[in-house]
Formats: sequence, structure tokens, C-alpha cells
Amino acid sequence: MNTIKKMIVGNWKMNPQTVKDATKLFEGINKQVPKPLRVVPIICAPYIYLPLLKKSKVLLGAQNIFTEAKGSYTGEISIDMVKNFKISHVIIGHSERRKMGETDEMVNKKVHLALEADITPIICIGETTRDEEGSYLGFLKGQLEQGLKGVSRNAVGRVIIAYEPVWAIGASTAMNAHDVHQMTLFIKKALIDIYKSKTITGIPVLYGGAVDPTNAHGILTEGEADGLLIGRQSLDAKSFGEILQIANNI
Ligand code: PGA
Repeated sequence: MNTIKKMIVGNWKMNPQTVKDATKLFEGINKQVPKPLRVVPIICAPYIYLPLLKKSKVLLGAQNIFTEAKGSYTGEISIDMVKNFKISHVIIGHSERRKMGETDEMVNKKVHLALEADITPIICIGETTRDEEGSYLGFLKGQLEQGLKGVSRNAVGRVIIAYEPVWAIGASTAMNAHDVHQMTLFIKKALIDIYKSKTITGIPVLYGGAVDPTNAHGILTEGEADGLLIGRQSLDAKSFGEILQIANNI
């Protein structure tokens, strides 16, 4: 039996545009939290809203951190800075950041910083395109290997992997549940290979990319994803609440 609690992670990205809307959205999401709560709701908000969101059943995460712990880096935010705001999670290596030039090496540095600070890294991996020969599978394994370089067997138990096929992010349809299942299995097997340990199967593997209330159930059940990473639908308290409820009832 899968004993990992389903993690439902909202990624607000660069939204909403006002403090008023951000606090309203967060309050709205809080009102939708199922009782009793069996899943783990997490909202990854823009840095500047984090201190304004009140402690609640909804955990808080950041969407990024800088590759260095401190120093003269204009405009950057360190892991210790975000830690002031009681965040428990941080998204690392989202494809939108990789598109802006973030490399696997940078992802790896950030993963180490998060683990050292006792913040759970949600490491995003995902292929841009698929080829019939399946070389994207090697690409994904490479992203895992490089992102986790130097992370001990012990420490890797504290990471979360988010599989997000880049072509499904912001798209109108998600990957189908059968394919999600293939990918969650592939990622778990790749982790066993990398760490040469079967106990590594306890690492949660989330799915992200066009998740909504109509496909969430299939992705979590048939797809056997341990949770979801949700962009657009996390900006609507009602939709996000519906997804929380669906996950809570599984
Ligand atoms: P989406 O974004 O749910 O809007 O497709 C997912 C993501 O970028 O994590």
C-alpha cells in the first residue's frame, strides 16, 4: 500500500498582482481545506507575499532560491531569508526557470542549500519533447542524477520529485493517467538505480502540467502520482479546493 500522503502543491508563479488579491486567495483556499485533512496542501507564493500569509493548515513554500547562501548578489533571495517566513518547501528547477538559463548544476546547488536549511526541495524535472526512441527517458534520468549529485541516501529521503512534462505545462490537456503511471514508475526505478537502494521508493513523485478538477482523480489513482503540482488552478480557490477534496477522498 502506498502510505505517502498526497501532496497538493499550488504554484502561484508571478500572481496575483496585489497584496489584497494574494491574501484573499489564500484565505479562500484555507476555507476550502477538507476536514478531516488527509492530504498535505502547500502554496508556493511569490517571496513578498510569504510574510503576509498567516500560519494555517496550508503549508507555505517558495518558488525558488539563489544558488549561494550569502553575498553580494543584487536582486537575489537566499534560503535563510525565506526560512524567516516559516516556509517548509521550495520549488527548485521549475521548467520556467530552466528556460531562463537554470542548469542542472544550479539546481543541484539549490537542492543542497535547501536540505542543509531543513527545507524540503520540490525538484522539477521534465522533458520538452518526446522521441520515438525514448531518449527523453535518459534525459530525465540525467536530470535526476545531476540534480541529486552528492545528496546522500539519507538526505534524499527528504526530497520531493515533481515530474512535469514541459509540453503539458500551461497546456489545455494534461498527460493521460496511464502515461503518468508509466512515468511515476520510471522515476521511482531510476531513483532505485541511482541510489542502489530499494528503500528509495518512499520518495514522493508528483505530477504537474494542466491539472484540473476533471483529471486530478485519474492522475492520483490510475497514474499513482503521490501528489500534484498545480499552476493555473491554484489561482482559483474553488478549483484548488475541489482538487484538495478529490485527493482527500482517495
Ligand atoms: P499549470 O502549471 O497547472 O498551469 O499547467 C503547472 C506548473 O507550471 O507547475
